[in-house]
Amino acid sequence: MSNDRFKALWEERYGSGVPVPLVTSDPVTESLMAHRTVRAYLNTPLPEGALEAAIAAAQSASSSSNMQIWSVVAVEDQARKDRLATLAGNQAHIRQAPLLLIWLIDFGRLKRIGDAKGKSTENLEYLDTFMVGAVDTGIAAQNAVASFEAAGLGVVYLGGMRNNSEAVAKELNLPPLTAVAFGLSVGFPDPTRPAHIKPRLAPSVVLHREQYDATGEQESVAHYNDMYAAFQKAEGLPGKRWVDATLPRLESPKALHGRERLRDVLEKQGFGLR
Ligand SMILES: Cc1cc2nc3c(=O)[nH]c(=O)nc-3n(C[C@H](O)[C@H](O)[C@H](O)COP(=O)(O)O)c2cc1C
Repeated sequence: MSNDRFKALWEERYGSGVPVPLVTSDPVTESLMAHRTVRAYLNTPLPEGALEAAIAAAQSASSSSNMQIWSVVAVEDQARKDRLATLAGNQAHIRQAPLLLIWLIDFGRLKRIGDAKGKSTENLEYLDTFMVGAVDTGIAAQNAVASFEAAGLGVVYLGGMRNNSEAVAKELNLPPLTAVAFGLSVGFPDPTRPAHIKPRLAPSVVLHREQYDATGEQESVAHYNDMYAAFQKAEGLPGKRWVDATLPRLESPKALHGRERLRDVLEKQGFGLR
């Protein structure tokens, strides 16, 4: 029998129409399912050791060929956070949260190690290695997020940190062959402005068994659009449907806020991407 907590989290995520599976749930899954992005923070510093524990969790993630091809810069200085907030689309929560982490795809370290040994690192020039870097950085960061959230902290990922990657690289004194993947603000959530669990597409839309099968997708997405609009309204936001919130982000490069220049920026940082 699934416990009450798991059932409650499941129904917040998917609404009441998706049957709750019979599982013996565990505290890790429940903590992951309770995730919500936090955009309002208290002015309270992180507990002693929370950053170090989260980075150990990040480093404990699987790593393609154990190359450990990422780095992270922790920013706590208010003036630097303010400057980075401005560069990332003026997002107020970046200024407010006590800690800002900038996650980097880092080929520079392996290049330096290769150079020191007189060894070729030609494969750093291939797009697939960039994919390795992006995947490994993402799963490492998400382990850190799981650790922060288990400690009662809240986070917001910040793709906006790529809007002005060159200026961010300058602010952080990044060496060649490093690329800003995303930022992550971390702090204690402000209980007077609580964040809620945002519904997701029904699992049947994303879980394909044996072969890809989009049957039933349209009906499920239509149902999700309604659920999403109701959630937005309950949050005091305009009750936009999911498609109406999502498709404009894909419509034209204007919605990329500078990120449409990413290939140029990466090439200037020394990435090959062949
Ligand atoms: C890589 C990545 C980049 C994101 N960038 C931003 C951002 O710049 N600003 C922001 O407010 N939220 C950002 N988000 C948060 C998403 O908007 C959020 O995760 C999504 O709406 C789902 O909401 P939830 O996390 O509360 O479930 C980002 C999330 C990810 C994974």
